[in-house]
Formats: sequence, structure tokens, C-alpha cells
Amino acid sequence: MSYWIDSHAHMVDEVFQEHFDEYMQRAKEYGVGKTLCICLNLAELKRGFQLQQQYPQLDLAVGYYPSDIPHLTEEDWQGLEEAAQDERVIAIGEIGLDYYWDKSFIEQQKEGFIRQIELANRVNKPVLVHARDASLDTYDILKEHPVNAKGILHCYSGSKEMAKRFEQLGMYFSFAGPLTFKNSKVAKEVAKELPLNRMFVETDSPYLTPEPHRGKQNETAYVKYVGEYLAELKQLDKEIVQKQMIENYQTLFNK
Ligand code: NI
Repeated sequence: MSYWIDSHAHMVDEVFQEHFDEYMQRAKEYGVGKTLCICLNLAELKRGFQLQQQYPQLDLAVGYYPSDIPHLTEEDWQGLEEAAQDERVIAIGEIGLDYYWDKSFIEQQKEGFIRQIELANRVNKPVLVHARDASLDTYDILKEHPVNAKGILHCYSGSKEMAKRFEQLGMYFSFAGPLTFKNSKVAKEVAKELPLNRMFVETDSPYLTPEPHRGKQNETAYVKYVGEYLAELKQLDKEIVQKQMIENYQTLFNK
């Protein structure tokens, strides 16, 4: 059977809490068979565990987001260490570098990123990488601190040249709503050229809503729009794209 996988969604976010069943129902109607839920802290992960009992199509990842790094205590780090070992957690993320919002704590961001790569390697799980306006530093860190189980660059927004270099490191790429925007020329070019066996689509819900719902709140069902857009861009049947992504997911997450 063929279906869409949303490789990155914050469905544990409280904005989805009230009508969660409706979001899951719509995901089913839109042909979304799996959603990787990104938990940004241990409280979100706890909610993820609860939701997963009712909805086994939810997978879970946990990691500390770049802008949260300066506020973490040793207790938070200890908690992440334990959570990472839980077999219900399939990846560490989202982790990485964000120079868009605040450049005042770059060194701390780097340290937090490296620390979580080392953790991913201890538990032998892939990473989910957030890199905004920080392609080169992200690359340098991934090259100097290789992730054994590889990982995904989520909402890839870098250049074609950087994509080639990340590809050589064994990384995968995920595209989100901006791919469907009229002005995303670079993202479209990169997505056209990258091999499908290194690609995923995602929503990053509740953010980055794709066309035709741009401007409204995003939800995991809408990964269908990103997937269909990519299929059109690559001039491939929707089923071929879906099947390859299912295979990619199995390869990367070993399931
Ligand atoms: Ni995200």
C-alpha cells in the first residue's frame, strides 16, 4: 500500500490538542500513513507517548532546538540522555543551528548541536537537523562530528552546491511548504536535482503551510500537497514518490 509520510511535524504542539482526533482523521482522508512528531522537550515527548498509544502511525523524535540551548539545565540534559534510549524514540531532533533570529549565542548553539550528535551516536539513532542561515557551519560540524546513523536536513533551504556536499556525508533532505511557493526558485531547483532516494517531504506543522492553504495553520494532512508538488516537479507518478519515501524511511530509521 502506498501513502504519504510527513517526516517532520509538531503535532504534539498544544495548538493541536483540542481537536486532535479531527487532525488524525483528516490525515487519513488525505492519504497520510505516518507522521514523525518532533518533541522539543520532555513534556512534549510525554504527550507524544500518550498520543502514540491511540495513534500508532505517530513516530517520535526528541531533541533540543537551537534557541532553547542557552536555557537548559544539567537536569534537562540528563533527561534527554534517558529519553534518547527509549525504543519509542526513533531519532534525535530537531537539533542544529539557527542564525536567523539571534546571533548572540552561536558558540552555545554549536556546543549544543555537537553534544546531541554525540548522544545520537551513543544510542545509534539518526538526527533531524534544523539549519537556518547556517548551512556552512552545519556542514562543518556534521563533517567533523559524523553521525553514524545519518539523518535528515529538515526544510532544506540551502544551495545546490551545499546540497551536494551534504549528500556526500550521507544525509537526507526534507522539503516543506515553501517548496510550493511561487518565489522558492532555489528550493525547486535543488529538489528537482536531488536523487529521490535521499528525499522526504514534511509539513513542519503548525508552521510553513503549503499552497493552497498558505497563511493558515498547517497540519500533517497537508503533506499531501508538498508530496504532490514534488511529484509534479520531478515528473513522476505520485505512487513512485510515495513508495521511494517509504523505502527511505525504512532504510534511515531501520523500520
Ligand atoms: Ni520543526
